[in-house]
This record gives sequence, C-alpha cells and structure tokens, in this order.
Amino acid sequence: MKNILFTGACGYIGSHTAYSFLKHTDYDIIVIDNLSSGFVENIDFLQSTFKDRISFIKIDLSDSKSLENVFMESEIYAIVHFAASIVVSESVSNPLLYYSNNTKNTLDLIKLCTKFEIKNFIFSSTAAVYGEPENNPISEDSPLLPINPYGASKMMSEMILRDTASANQNFNYIALRYFNVAGALNDNDYQKNRGLGQRNKNATHLIKIACECAVGKRDGMQIFGDDYETKDGTCIRDYIHIDDLAMAHLRALEFLEGEKRSEVFNVGYNNGYSVKEIISRLKEISKVDFKVEIAKRREGDPANLVSNNTKILNLTSWKAMHNDIDLILKSAYLWEKSPMSLIK
Ligand SMILES: NC(=O)c1ccc[n+]([C@@H]2O[C@H](COP(=O)([O-])OP(=O)(O)OC[C@H]3O[C@@H](n4cnc5c(N)ncnc54)[C@H](O)[C@@H]3O)[C@@H](O)[C@H]2O)c1
Repeated sequence: MKNILFTGACGYIGSHTAYSFLKHTDYDIIVIDNLSSGFVENIDFLQSTFKDRISFIKIDLSDSKSLENVFMESEIYAIVHFAASIVVSESVSNPLLYYSNNTKNTLDLIKLCTKFEIKNFIFSSTAAVYGEPENNPISEDSPLLPINPYGASKMMSEMILRDTASANQNFNYIALRYFNVAGALNDNDYQKNRGLGQRNKNATHLIKIACECAVGKRDGMQIFGDDYETKDGTCIRDYIHIDDLAMAHLRALEFLEGEKRSEVFNVGYNNGYSVKEIISRLKEISKVDFKVEIAKRREGDPANLVSNNTKILNLTSWKAMHNDIDLILKSAYLWEKSPMSLIK
C-alpha cells in the first residue's frame, strides 16, 4: 500500500483533502502536525470513517530528527504539504515566524525529499504570491510581487521547489495557488455530515467570521476598508468551496503521475465577490441582520484577487463542482450552526 505524507492535515484544508484522498483513492495517509492551529478531532473523525488508513504523528516540522524518522520508518510515495502559518496580519508584525515556519521548514522538507528520493510533492501556495496584481482575473504567469511576508514566504517556497525540480529530474511538484477557501465537507448531505468544517481558533477568514456572527458566536464584525477602487469600495475575492479545492490536490497528483513534470496552478472559480456582497448574501441566507461596522484598511490586503483558472481546467481533469456562492455560504453557515464546530 502506498503512503502519502500530509503535513498540517489537522487543519482545515488538509483534513478535507485527506477525506477526499481516502474516499477516492487506495492510498494510506500519514499526517504530521504540531497542532498549533489544527485539531486532533479532525483526525478522530477521519479515523472513525476510514479506520487505520490514516495515522497521526504529532511533530513540529522544525524537529528535523523526528521528521527524518518518519521518512526512515515508512516508504513515502508523495507529500502534500499544508503545514504553515497563515495569518497575513500576523506575518506583517512577525515576519520571521513566517520565513521560518513557511519557508525554512519547507526547505528542510524538500531536502528530505531529495535524500529519500520522493518523486511527488504538492504544495499549498496562495494567491497572496501575486500581491496587488494589475490585471484580474490573474493568470499563473503574472508577476509574483507579494505585498506581505506571508505571500513572500510562500513565493520563496515555490522558488525552492522550482529550482530543486529543475536540478533533479526525479523530483516533480505542483504548487496550487489557492484563492479564498470556504465551506465545509459536503459529501452529498449537508444536514447529516457534520464531521469536518472550518475550526480555526482565531479565524481571520471573512466567511467564517460572518457565519460566527450569524449564529451568535460574535456580536458583530468589521469591514476593513470601504475606500478601495472596487465596485462598492470593499475588497474583492474569489471564494472556492473546500471540496473543490480538496479534489484539486487529487487531480494534481494524477497530473504528476501521468505527466512526470512540475506545474503551478491557480485554484479558484474566476468569480469575484466583494466583502459587502458576501455579508449581505449571508444575512439573506441566515435571516440574521448581524452588526457590521466599517474600520480602516488592514495592512497587506490587496483590493482585488480573482483567479484565472483556465490552466488547471485545461491541463488536469479538475472540475468546479460547487461554483455557487450561496451554496458555499450555506455550507459554511450550517457547519457553524452544528455542535461539531464548537470544538476550539
Ligand atoms: N485557508 C485559506 O483560505 C488559504 C488560502 C491560501 C492558501 N492557504 C494555505 O493552505 C494551507 C492550509 O491552510 P488552512 O487554512 O488549512 O490552515 P490551518 O491553520 O487550518 O492548517 C495548518 C495546519 O498546519 C499545522 N502546522 C503549522 N505549523 C506547523 C509546524 N511547524 N509543524 C507541524 N504542523 C504545523 C497546524 O497545526 C494546522 O493543523 C496553508 O499552507 C495555507 O498557507 C490557505
């Protein structure tokens, strides 16, 4: 049986992607995570569904000795690397955390890949590598000009991957540049399946925060800036359903297996919604008129980030199955209402 090493799969995107892999493939999964922002409950849910096909080892990626032991003890077929620090504003105030946790730890992981001759690597990158792009929707060949250390830490990781792959013919990678991810595991039944969703300890994601307001977990929320050059003055983002993002990783692995070459793909829907639009649609869906106030802009927030997704659609078998903002909002809202979301 082939093992895939998932770093950071106690977190939001990694846990949903593990679910998709376990459901649609025969691979077994080894998760390593330090639980800094992840939840062991996500692993409990996956183990209750898929039994011993998924195992968990609590390791910090900077603990190179323990990490190397994982490579020595299990034959690893591919790596899906989610583990990172992910809060843009924190990266502005504490950049070294981001360069060490995101860039340095990725570098060390790639070193182990070359040492143990791992051929396939899938990397969680981000639209933040583009910074403040001149043109939207953004294609993958747009210049990489990140405007915050979070985006820069991911851009550097991409460069390390690119250069390692060009120096080493047996090592291939896919960098998936995620746009804004939201929603909870769908799996055909929103009402019953309440095992996985977004459980951030201190959420900074718009849809998550708005849902917390709608269910009464927060008294209200702020919009950071309504003076951007956008249709209603608030920032525009491309929101992708977590299940579609999860499947992009599976399609990326199929691409690596079939093509045996590296690529970078945007993963989004080519649709932009403003902060005000998201909040007003969620208020309609939840029928709750929660309090919203306008605050000043946050440092490091670009006005507009919308993905051109032509490349992933053309080169892989990935399809956008949940490209519907109301469905995404409903999914996130129902998760937030469920008791499972209370685990913090
Ligand atoms: N959520 C989004 O909208 C979004 C958008 C673009 C890119 N991303 C990227 O996707 C990936 C996953 O994001 P997420 O939203 O699931 O975040 P998350 O915080 O839910 O998950 C990150 C996981 O990594 C673990 N981790 C962090 N540092 C670690 C370390 N040093 N050693 C071991 N484990 C460590 C955390 O405990 C957590 O379980 C990240 O790389 C992030 O940069 C996320």
